[in-house]
Amino acid sequence: RCKAVVLISGGGSNLQAFIDQIEAGQLPLDIALVISNKPEAFGLERATRAGIDTLVVNHKAYPSRDDFDRALQRAIDAATPDLVILAGFMRILTADFVNHFRHRLINIHPSLLPKYPGTNTHQRALDAGDTWHGASIHFVVPEVDAGPIILQGRLKIRSDDNADQLQQRIHKIEHQLYPLAARWFAEQRLSQHNGKVLLDGETSDQQLQ
Ligand code: GAR
Repeated sequence: RCKAVVLISGGGSNLQAFIDQIEAGQLPLDIALVISNKPEAFGLERATRAGIDTLVVNHKAYPSRDDFDRALQRAIDAATPDLVILAGFMRILTADFVNHFRHRLINIHPSLLPKYPGTNTHQRALDAGDTWHGASIHFVVPEVDAGPIILQGRLKIRSDDNADQLQQRIHKIEHQLYPLAARWFAEQRLSQHNGKVLLDGETSDQQLQ
């Protein structure tokens, strides 16, 4: 079975989606460890409740980003994962860290990348008057919120939507998409070719555009 380490910074609703699907026998993944950079992250409680080991690697305890990322890398390596899942992990990672876990490090981002990398994505989509908004799951590369896209889900923005409502609706999409992407990885159905992700050796229509 595929062994994963999940990195969080906050509520951990995506972590919960993984836990629920694993417990229901729908996701062939074992979460060996959940790491948070914030000691107060509620996701740590979700992990403990599910009997998963947790660890806090507090970025404030390290003098530099390099030092923090090296400590994080050591902690992850000790768990010997096949897959490292960023699930609402809100720290920018160094190129050394990303390259160390290259091809086994995935992230979820609350926008239709390449639109709106960074933060505040829901408000930015509203301010731009966009019709569509969504979430993207991608392999991580050193450039922030870039990297080959595995899966995207989208929704239509309603005229009365605000950022909070959009976030809630995006979360629902994320909770379906992220376990599915992890499942494809665990089943070794994902590969990469010319910067694109292939599922069962095929490119999706959307990626060809
Ligand atoms: C999710 O919406 C995820 O897309 C976003 O943080 C939220 C975490 O929610 N990630 C980023 O913004 C990464 N830059 P959760 O803690 O409830 O899973």
